[in-house]
Amino acid sequence: MTIDGPSGAGKGTVSRAVAKRLGWHYLDSGSIYRSLAIAVLEQGVFPEDEQAVADLARSMRLEFNCGDTLTVYLNGVDITRQLAAESTGNTASKIAALPKVRQVLLQKQRDFQRQPGLVADGRDMGSVVFPDAEYKVYLTASAGERAERRYKQLIEKGIHANLEQIRKEIDERDRRDQERKTAPLVMPSDAYYLDSSNKPVEQVIEEVLNLIH
Ligand code: C5P
Repeated sequence: MTIDGPSGAGKGTVSRAVAKRLGWHYLDSGSIYRSLAIAVLEQGVFPEDEQAVADLARSMRLEFNCGDTLTVYLNGVDITRQLAAESTGNTASKIAALPKVRQVLLQKQRDFQRQPGLVADGRDMGSVVFPDAEYKVYLTASAGERAERRYKQLIEKGIHANLEQIRKEIDERDRRDQERKTAPLVMPSDAYYLDSSNKPVEQVIEEVLNLIH
């Protein structure tokens, strides 16, 4: 199953819950782009240097530990806390526009496909990475609600956040993700459109599960 949509639509929460209820595996593809962004920032590589970023993508060693919460190790170091920062998301969306980088990460993402099933969340899961997925969802919400959710998530994690700033950053990131040439954020024609504005998360999870049952 693929769940695509813009930033802050609730894809992570919904995908994790659906995967848990079905006993399936979970791929948070955004965290792969975010991990690469951290590697780029740490190693002082220019985010515009396509070949250098692609080489880094090829050589980075990522491990995911999916317990109740996701723990991510980059070359053996726990980077979970840095992953959530808006600055990481912003750099991620810059390097995500580079075709060579997407090409390197394609197979890494496909390797997550395992029995009995996978819930993959991202921007191009249904359109590019898993075009043959049996179930596809496009999850969205109003821009205001998405900014508020992201703000609450950051505050809960103890990360300093400013609502107005987040609103601007989300707008900018959405525009970049939708307008890039390679694998832009689109709604696959065979996806189920789900607007989660003003809906309790439990209801959204049920709607997604109903597609399968
Ligand atoms: O979903 P998340 O906010 O963690 O993703 C961070 C960035 O990674 C997105 O803004 C997007 O540019 C990029 N991304 C992508 N394709 C995916 C998942 C994430 O381009 N499948």
